[in-house]
Amino acid sequence: MSDQVIRIGLCGFGVVGQGVFNHLKRRKEALGEQLGARLEVTRIAVRDTSKSRDFEFDPSVLTTDALSIASDPEIDVLCELMGGTDKALAVTLTALKAGKTVVTANKALLCDHGAEVFDAAREGGGHVLFEASVAGGIPVIKAIKEGLVVNRFSSIYGILNGTCNYILTRMTNEGGSYQDILREAKELGYAEADESLDVDGIDTAHKAVVLAYLAFGRWVPYSDLLVEGIAAVTQDDISYARENGYAIKLLAVIDLAHASGKLYISVLPTLVSKRYALGSVDGVFNAVSIHGDVVGETVYIGPGAGRDATASAVIADVVDAAKLIGKKDCGGFIDPAPKGGHLIELAEPEEIMSRYYVRLQVLDEPGVMAEVASLLAEHQVSLASVTQKEVAEGAKDASLIMTTHFTSERALLEAVKSLEKCDRVQGKPFSMPISTFED
Ligand code: NAP
Ligand code: HSE
Repeated sequence: MSDQVIRIGLCGFGVVGQGVFNHLKRRKEALGEQLGARLEVTRIAVRDTSKSRDFEFDPSVLTTDALSIASDPEIDVLCELMGGTDKALAVTLTALKAGKTVVTANKALLCDHGAEVFDAAREGGGHVLFEASVAGGIPVIKAIKEGLVVNRFSSIYGILNGTCNYILTRMTNEGGSYQDILREAKELGYAEADESLDVDGIDTAHKAVVLAYLAFGRWVPYSDLLVEGIAAVTQDDISYARENGYAIKLLAVIDLAHASGKLYISVLPTLVSKRYALGSVDGVFNAVSIHGDVVGETVYIGPGAGRDATASAVIADVVDAAKLIGKKDCGGFIDPAPKGGHLIELAEPEEIMSRYYVRLQVLDEPGVMAEVASLLAEHQVSLASVTQKEVAEGAKDASLIMTTHFTSERALLEAVKSLEKCDRVQGKPFSMPISTFED
């Protein structure tokens, strides 16, 4: 092996950082042979240097000053594995301005500050590599940037959050409690430090914004996305899905809406047919379906969260970063913007058509069904089916499950708002699209 050493600074030594450290050490010889250079972690930043860690390491490499690693001329590649968007941004920009290549798993940072981060990379002459930011261990960024480079994309559908898919799968298979399963997902290292990012759909939306940028060349502001998480999903919804050949998935849809050429992005719990590949992707696994005009549909499935899966993606980027050292104009980041050729417009909710599932808790009294149907009709929402579960003796309200014919997202959202205001509807109605992309 050559004597060349590539010095890596790890900013963050938690679930992912320690995974990267461990596997770089385990595969040191093999990676060194492939690269003709040794990969050495020479500095590590954490918040608390006294915390016990899962792997043995030289404590002299620790610091609480992540910025000092970003500006350290001895560091060749900086891995930003801290999370958050404040310190992480400062560290990333400092390293890029110093001409380093930054490897990041931080989708929140890219969603909020992607344009600034990539500009800094171009100006500094380094690169930003972000395979671990979307779909954990699945090399989907590389697939879009490299393997599918000749394609123009029409849609990407993704199960992009391991925590949510793990929770929904276990609620479906075991009927377990949402809170207990979420606690386990945290213990397994799947969830974000702030788990509301996972269960409220925010993390999936961050990833959808990154994929949309890669495929369509536009950083869509988070505020332009329709985002719902999984907290309102109940066992009634899961039973409906099971009985009708569906699974409930938190699905990111990144789509050129109905040939209008406008871009639509949403993150919503969705009824996905079990006949479609994504309907059978369970547990912590993620799946991404990509439609390209040359290749057709390709589907990528693999573990979407957790220490080892994420470390696999980060290390792939570290190896690419090592190969890119000193190269300014190739390989690491291919700007996708020219693919779109123009700033793609965003679709309006009235341009998005789907079938929907709607669940309501209503007072169990005469005339309720007629009132609900009439409210929906006022918004041009046409019912395809209505089911009321048998009401227990003495119970005052009943669960009503309806599906609609094709209707616009705008009409559905307005209809649900009206239902919410209706005195005989108890609590918030729950709705989700019924996917038809497999048809
Ligand atoms: P984590 O376990 O909470 O680890 C975060 C690490 O960053 C900790 O070592 C923490 O130090 C350190 N840190 C935080 N703020 C810091 C600061 N201001 N200065 C110095 N060190 C700081 O988080 P994680 O799960 O590894 O996630 C890290 C990143 O990877 C996030 O962007 C996350 O979204 C992304 N990601 C995670 C996964 C996953 O499955 N977990 C998968 C893909 C991407 P202490 O240890 O001292 O607290
Ligand atoms: N919390 C994220 C998830 C980590 O569960 O998918 C991977 O990005």
